[in-house]
Amino acid sequence: METRPFAGIEVPVIGMGTSKTYDVPEVDEARQQITDVAIDCGATFVDSSPMYGNAERILGATLGTRRREAIVATKVWTADDQEAERQIDASLRFFDGHVEVFQVHNLVGWRPRLDQLEARRDAGQVDVIGATHWRADAFDELEAVMRSGRIAAIQVPYNPHEREVEQRILPLAADLGVGVILMRPFAAGGLIGRAPDDAALAPLAPFGVSNWSQALLKYGLSHPATSVSIPATSRPERMANNAAAGDGPWFGAEEKALVERLAA
Ligand SMILES: NC(=O)c1ccc[n+]([C@@H]2O[C@H](COP(=O)([O-])OP(=O)(O)OC[C@H]3O[C@@H](n4cnc5c(N)ncnc54)[C@H](OP(=O)(O)O)[C@@H]3O)[C@@H](O)[C@H]2O)c1
Repeated sequence: METRPFAGIEVPVIGMGTSKTYDVPEVDEARQQITDVAIDCGATFVDSSPMYGNAERILGATLGTRRREAIVATKVWTADDQEAERQIDASLRFFDGHVEVFQVHNLVGWRPRLDQLEARRDAGQVDVIGATHWRADAFDELEAVMRSGRIAAIQVPYNPHEREVEQRILPLAADLGVGVILMRPFAAGGLIGRAPDDAALAPLAPFGVSNWSQALLKYGLSHPATSVSIPATSRPERMANNAAAGDGPWFGAEEKALVERLAA
C-alpha cells in the first residue's frame, strides 16, 4: 500500500469510511472481519462521525487491541458548545483516549468547534485538526477555513460525477500543504451500478485495475493533491478489493478521461 504525506504524518492512500456500513447495534462478524481485513491490507486510515449512529462505538470495538495500528479520523457535529464537548469526550473514549484526525463535520459551528479542538490538541488528545463538507455550495466557506491556517486537513467528495473540488479546493490544498481525505469515491454507491464490461476497462489493466471500483478509486487518487480515499463497504471481500487499488501507477489525463466517459 502506497503512503502519502498528510499533515505531518504518512497515511495509506486507501482507508475506510463507516457511514451507514458500521451503524449496527453491536459488533457482528461482518464488521469485525471488515476492520481486520482493512488493517491486514494496510488500509489503516479509518473515518467516522457521531452523525453515523453507532459507527464510532462499533469501529472502536472492532479495532480492539489493534487500535494503535490505525489512524483514526472522526468528527464533531453540533451547533451546541456543550454537546460538542460531550461528543469529543465520547469519541476519545471509543478510541482509547486519542484521535489522530479530528474534523469539524460539515463546518457546523466551525469557529467554536476549532477553539475546542485546538484545546484538545494542546492537551495531547488530538494530532491533526480538519474540516469536512460534502456540498459544493459550501466550498467558499471551506476555502475561508483553509485560508485561516487553523486546519491541516480537509475531507471532500471527488469522483467522476462530483468534480467541483478540481476548480479551487484541491489546488489550494496543494498550495497550503493541507492534507486531503477523499470521501464518496463511488458517489455513495451511485457509480457502482454502472460498471462497464471488461473490454471497456482493458486500457486500465496496465495500471493494476481489475474492476470498476478500483478504476474509480484510482481516478480520485490520481489527482496529486489527494492523500487518502475512504470507501465504505459492508462486505469484507470488497474491503480487500478496494485496498488492492492502493498502489501506482496512477492515471494520466487520458485514463481519467476514459473513466469519466465510462461513468457518464
Ligand atoms: N460530510 C462528510 O464528512 C461526509 C459525507 C459523506 C461521506 N463521508 C465519509 O466518506 C465515506 C465514504 O462515502 P460513502 O460511504 O458515502 O460512499 P462511497 O464510499 O462512495 O460508497 C459506498 C457504497 O459503495 C459500495 N461499495 C463499496 N465498495 C464496493 C466494491 N468494491 N464493489 C461494489 N460496491 C462497493 C457499498 O456497498 P456495500 O456496503 O454493499 O459494499 C456502499 O453502498 C463515508 O463512509 C464517510 O466516512 C463523509
